Amino acid sequence: MSLWVEKYRPNSFDEIIGQEESVNKLKAMVKKGEVQHIIMSGPPGVGKTTSAVVLARELFGSVWEENFIELNASDDRKLSVIQGKVKEFARSKPISAPFKMILFDEADSLTSEAQQALRRMMEEYSATCRFIFSVNYQSNIIEPIQSRCAVLRFKPLSKSEVVKFIDRIAKTEGLNIDSGAKEALEYVSKGDLRSLVNTMQSLANLSSTISSEVVYKNSGVLDVGKIREGLKAAISGDYMKSKETFSTFLDGGVNIKELVSQMFSVVASSDLIEPNMKSYVIEKLAELDYRVIEGATPFIQLQAFLAFLSTLKK
Ligand SMILES: Nc1ncnc2c1ncn2[C@@H]1O[C@H](COP(=O)(O)OP(=O)(O)OP(=O)(O)O)[C@@H](O)[C@H]1O
Ligand SMILES: [Mg+2]
Repeated sequence: MSLWVEKYRPNSFDEIIGQEESVNKLKAMVKKGEVQHIIMSGPPGVGKTTSAVVLARELFGSVWEENFIELNASDDRKLSVIQGKVKEFARSKPISAPFKMILFDEADSLTSEAQQALRRMMEEYSATCRFIFSVNYQSNIIEPIQSRCAVLRFKPLSKSEVVKFIDRIAKTEGLNIDSGAKEALEYVSKGDLRSLVNTMQSLANLSSTISSEVVYKNSGVLDVGKIREGLKAAISGDYMKSKETFSTFLDGGVNIKELVSQMFSVVASSDLIEPNMKSYVIEKLAELDYRVIEGATPFIQLQAFLAFLSTLKK
């Protein structure tokens, strides 16, 4: 079985979704044939490593693998490796290319000692080698390296960009994904396309039709729409309906603490509850939270809370 993360890894700039600003800068470097040292910073699964590999392919063509290495194993972090393998690569002549490139993937974990050594190499071998650092946080790179690099910022993918990626995969794999399920996939992926593609692959193993229920169930993320629905029913005075909605969560084996914590964020961030009642409701939720943590019978506590909500209106 091939991994979809590899199958759907873009091989050219045009296949990269979103990240226009960064991609345009990289394209301009290729066009000029001039590449600076680069820091690519941003959250996981948004195209940093992919962009670095595409840059190497576009720059070096058929000899890209001779002129590009990627260091990511924890072993490669050691100072001895940097002074050995990295130095060896950086100083050796490029092969049918103007320079070589080294990608430090997950460079957040490079020690500052290792970074100091790299900084010296960046100067010494700048004629033959370019350094690329892929990081989640730019601040994990020492200042003297930051100041020698062009910084490209990668962002979480927007909703419509994520949907574009879902559609691309669904079409190729022949999957049925209705709009509710797309929304669920988008929600649980939080703009991380790696996590999205992995989720889709594991769900497609179960069935070629993907529903929102199955997405939430497998992700361990609670269906916020449903929590809102249950709370809304209670607030409008329909205790029975709210109880039913929440019992499907508990029947599904949901962690009650997790559920309560999601109820907190729904109440806090939505206008379901009148502003003047909000703090009162939150206080009650805190009580519920406390009792649940103390190990009181969760469903009974939850019912008491819903009953309280359903009397608010009167
Ligand atoms: N912008 C994008 N366009 C298309 N596919 C993407 C994009 N970003 C990520 N992907 C998909 O996610 C996979 C992982 O992306 P990539 O390795 O580039 O993430 P990353 O930003 O380097 O993450 P990390 O910080 O975890 O290293 C790719 O193989 C591809 O399938
Ligand atoms: Mg990466």
